Amino acid sequence: MNKIKFTAICCVLALVLINVVMLTITSADEPPGQIGYGRGGRMQGGSVSKHGDEPIQPIPISFDWDSAKIELGKILFFEPRLSKSGWITCNSCHNLSTGGADNLPTSIGHKWTLGPINSPTVLNAKFNLAQFWDGRAKDLKEQAKGPVANPMEMASNHDFAVEVLQSIPEYVQWFKELYKDEKITIDNVADAIAAFEETLTTPNSRFDSWLNGYDDKISEAERQGYDLFKDKGCVTCHNGFGVGGNSFQKFGIAKPYDKDTQTLGRYNVTKNEKDKYVFKVPLLRNIALTAPYFHDASTWSLREAVTIMAGYQLGVTLTDDETDKIVAFLKTLTGDQPSIIFPTLPPSNENTPKPNRN
Ligand code: HEC
Ligand code: HEC
Repeated sequence: MNKIKFTAICCVLALVLINVVMLTITSADEPPGQIGYGRGGRMQGGSVSKHGDEPIQPIPISFDWDSAKIELGKILFFEPRLSKSGWITCNSCHNLSTGGADNLPTSIGHKWTLGPINSPTVLNAKFNLAQFWDGRAKDLKEQAKGPVANPMEMASNHDFAVEVLQSIPEYVQWFKELYKDEKITIDNVADAIAAFEETLTTPNSRFDSWLNGYDDKISEAERQGYDLFKDKGCVTCHNGFGVGGNSFQKFGIAKPYDKDTQTLGRYNVTKNEKDKYVFKVPLLRNIALTAPYFHDASTWSLREAVTIMAGYQLGVTLTDDETDKIVAFLKTLTGDQPSIIFPTLPPSNENTPKPNRN
C-alpha cells in the first residue's frame, strides 16, 4: 500500500517538474534553435543563423578571464599617479563613460597640451591589427607603455612611474602575487593594463542580435542601410568583428584628401612613399558615441563622415535617403558598454614621489 502511495506521489511530482521545465523553455522571449550569444552572456545553441556568412561578425562574449590581473589592470587604467602631474589617467582621454574616447578634436595632455591627433576608442581595440592610427604599436601591451612617457600625454617616464608604484605596499604585493617578482616593471604594468583592455568589448549590439538570427532587432531602414554599406563598398574596408581595424588604407583613394596633408600616417612607420596618408581603418563599433570623426576630427557629424567616406574613398555621391539609411545602420552598432565598478586606489605615503605640475 505504502509503495503504491509513494509511486503515485513521485509520478505527480515528476509531472509538475516536466510542466515547469516545458513552460520555462517555451516562454523564453527569444526564439530557440539559433546560435549566438544572448543577453548577459547566455549562450543559445542550435542551428547556424542564416546571417552566419556576413562580412561582419558578432562580438564574442569571453569568459576565460584571469580576474586578478584584470582587476590590477583596471586600477592602473584609473591611476593618475602614472602621470607626472598625478592628475591624468588613461581614462582621461579614453573615458569609459563616453564610448572609450574623449569626444574632443584632439586630446588634452600634460599642462593642457593639445595633442596632434584625435584619440581613438579603447573599446574593442583588441580587434585592431595594430594600435594607433599609423599602427606603430603591434599590440595593446606595447601600446600601453607609450602614453605614460609621452611628453604631450602623461609626461612621466617609465622609471618614475614604476618608482611611484613601488613606493606603495599594496601595488608591490599585487604585482608580486601576479608576476612572482619583487620589483615592479613597466612591462608588467603594461601587461596588466592590456589584460584589462582585452575585456573592454561591447557585445550584444542590435546589429549583432540580427547577425545571430533575431531579424526584428533592426528596422527595415537599418537593414537597407546595411545593404547599402555592402553594395556601395564600405564593407571592403570596414568588416570583421570590429567593422574595421583589420587593414591599413589610404585616406583619399578616389580623390586626394585635402583637409589635412600634414599627418602622414603609416609612412611614419615604414618610410615608404606609398604609405603616405595611409591609416589604420578605424572600428565602426559604437561609432555613434565617439564624435568627432577622422584622425583630424574634421567633422562632428556622422552623416557628414559618411558623405566624406563615399566621396573620398569610393568616388560616389549618396542620395540623402541612402546617407540616412547608412547612418541608421551605423547606429545599430552600439553594444553593451562595459559596466565598471570604479576602483579605490591605495593611498600614497611619505616615500611616494610627489606629483609635478611643471
Ligand atoms: C592625453 C591623452 C591620452 C592619454 C592620457 C592616453 N591616451 Fe591612449 N591615445 C591617445 C591618442 C591621441 C591616441 C592616438 C595616437 C596616435 O594614433 O598617434 C591614443 C591611442 C591609444 C590606443 C590605440 C587605439 C587604436 O585604435 O589605435 C590605445 C589602445 C590607447 N591609446 C590606450 C591608452 C592607455 C592604456 C592609456 C594609459 C596608460 C592611454 N591610452 C593614455 C590619447 C591618450
Ligand atoms: C578603401 C577603404 C575604405 C572604404 C571603402 C571606406 N572607408 Fe571608412 N574609413 C577608412 C579609413 C582609412 C578611415 C580613417 C580615415 C582617417 O581618419 O584618417 C575611415 C574612417 C571612417 C569613419 C570615421 C571613423 C572614426 O572613428 O573617426 C566612418 C564613420 C567611416 N569610415 C564610414 C565609412 C562608410 C559609411 C563607408 C562607405 C560609404 C566607408 N567608410 C568606406 C577606410 C575606408
